[in-house]
Amino acid sequence: MVMFYPALPLSDVDSLKIVKRNVDGMAVLFARDSQGAVFAFENNCSHADKPLERGVWNPQTAEILCPFHKAVFDVRHAGKVKAGPAVVSLQVFPLEIRMHAGVETVFVGLDNED
Ligand code: FES
Repeated sequence: MVMFYPALPLSDVDSLKIVKRNVDGMAVLFARDSQGAVFAFENNCSHADKPLERGVWNPQTAEILCPFHKAVFDVRHAGKVKAGPAVVSLQVFPLEIRMHAGVETVFVGLDNED
């Protein structure tokens, strides 16, 4: 079952950099594309299990380039691999924008096994 957790204020997410937050014990990356859409995705490249937090975010295409071996994932399209060596998609999480304690907040949906 997917549970939505408050992650960060919407104003903390911009198109210039990736933001990392721990959400329910999991490192989640957030970024915004040049059209203003916000995305949440795993901090884990499927190629060699390396963190993506220092990857290069392209706000025009919503693609992230892995800094290790240059795999590219299309975050806008379910994390699909655009360039290898990765072959497995990046996990992109559902999100909602809601008011939380008076602040416009990004909630991220994570699988909860309970
Ligand atoms: S760890 Fe990302 S491309 Fe190899």
